[in-house]
Amino acid sequence: MNDRGNASARLIAPLATLATVLLSIAGAAPLRAQGGAPPFDVPAWAFPTAPPPRPGTVPVVPDSVTRHTVPNSTRHYTRKQVGNAFDIPDWFPRQHPPMPAPVQYGVRPEGRACGFCHLPDGQGRPENGTLAGLPVEYTVRQLRAMREGTRGSANPAASPNPMIAVARGFSDDEVRIAARYYARLQLTRRNIVREVAQVPTTRVAGLLYALDGTGREPIDGRLLEVPESIERHDLRDPWVRYTTYVPTGSLTRGRRLATQGPAGPTTSCGACHGPQLLGTGDVPPIAGRAPSNILRQLINFRTRARRDSTAASMYPVVDSLTIHDMVALAAYVGSLPPSRTPRK
Ligand code: HEC
Ligand code: HEC
Repeated sequence: MNDRGNASARLIAPLATLATVLLSIAGAAPLRAQGGAPPFDVPAWAFPTAPPPRPGTVPVVPDSVTRHTVPNSTRHYTRKQVGNAFDIPDWFPRQHPPMPAPVQYGVRPEGRACGFCHLPDGQGRPENGTLAGLPVEYTVRQLRAMREGTRGSANPAASPNPMIAVARGFSDDEVRIAARYYARLQLTRRNIVREVAQVPTTRVAGLLYALDGTGREPIDGRLLEVPESIERHDLRDPWVRYTTYVPTGSLTRGRRLATQGPAGPTTSCGACHGPQLLGTGDVPPIAGRAPSNILRQLINFRTRARRDSTAASMYPVVDSLTIHDMVALAAYVGSLPPSRTPRK
């Protein structure tokens, strides 16, 4: 099975009525296309979202007997332990400094531990994002924006964004402790980008795609990021690799857009994100980060789902982009080295 059936279920940003209803039920601020954002069709395939369980479905109780491990780790955890968001699994404790409490234990009841989703070494997972190396003030501002409803998701079906409840569960001080920890860590490469005409068929697994092993199909303009092993992804192995499939020609097109700027030199990515796109000041690094997440963020700026105080810098950059341009940019930026001195 794949998600292409949903591709026709297009969402037009200014037609936010449905979003308003869904989000007000969810308690978050409604999504609006603001500041004269030109209309944009949000492709559903960019936001893989497994449907909620049918009413009456008995939730699967995580196994608390069988112990699992991941390559090169000496530790063993049961599925129940892997799923504990208030005392998280740590497969490689020697690969990062000791975690502060918000990262390892979180704050009950809503503040699940940051490391549960973004992992102890801050490499994150494509569906949430990399925290390693993010500027402290940027992280603090993003969580404030999530709490206040100025950072949402362009896809109402993906709302409420799991981060929103989490952000509400932490104080600014607790967020700052976590942000300082992650800011010192270094991002290492987790994904490879492959240009293809045909892509292996996929299924939606939670908030990302997994290979379903049944065949191949045309890529059809999409960007699909899949783990080499869904099992290791589910075990929260920080070293699982991801392959990002993009249409042939994306990298060249992305490089041209990134260096020349989609709307002239002031919109070249390096003008604000630094010459190697490793970030400057409070502007976040983008090189080498998960392409599917870069793509979603470009869409979020384009639809004004991100409209916190500093998001407006990105509007002139994204407003002239087509979805094909965004795919190309996400592929190119995601394929760059994520740091000057890569850690082994
Ligand atoms: C339950 C899973 C979960 C937990 C726990 C969690 N996050 Fe997130 N986080 C997400 C998801 C999903 C996103 C992507 C949201 C989006 O981009 O709209 C995200 C996005 C972010 C971003 C934006 C990254 C970017 O590049 O713009 C930051 C910053 C962040 N989280 C920080 C934190 C911090 C700090 C904590 C702990 C205090 C935390 N998160 C806990 C799931 C989680
Ligand atoms: C005029 C300055 C400027 C330019 C030019 C610019 N950016 Fe940005 N970008 C920013 C700022 C500032 C932010 C943080 C926005 C916020 O705080 O919400 C950002 C955020 C982002 C993010 C979100 C990162 C995350 O962690 O969620 C992505 C992706 C991004 N930019 C991609 C690009 C790409 C690709 C280009 C070139 C095509 C580009 N940017 C050009 C200023 C700029």
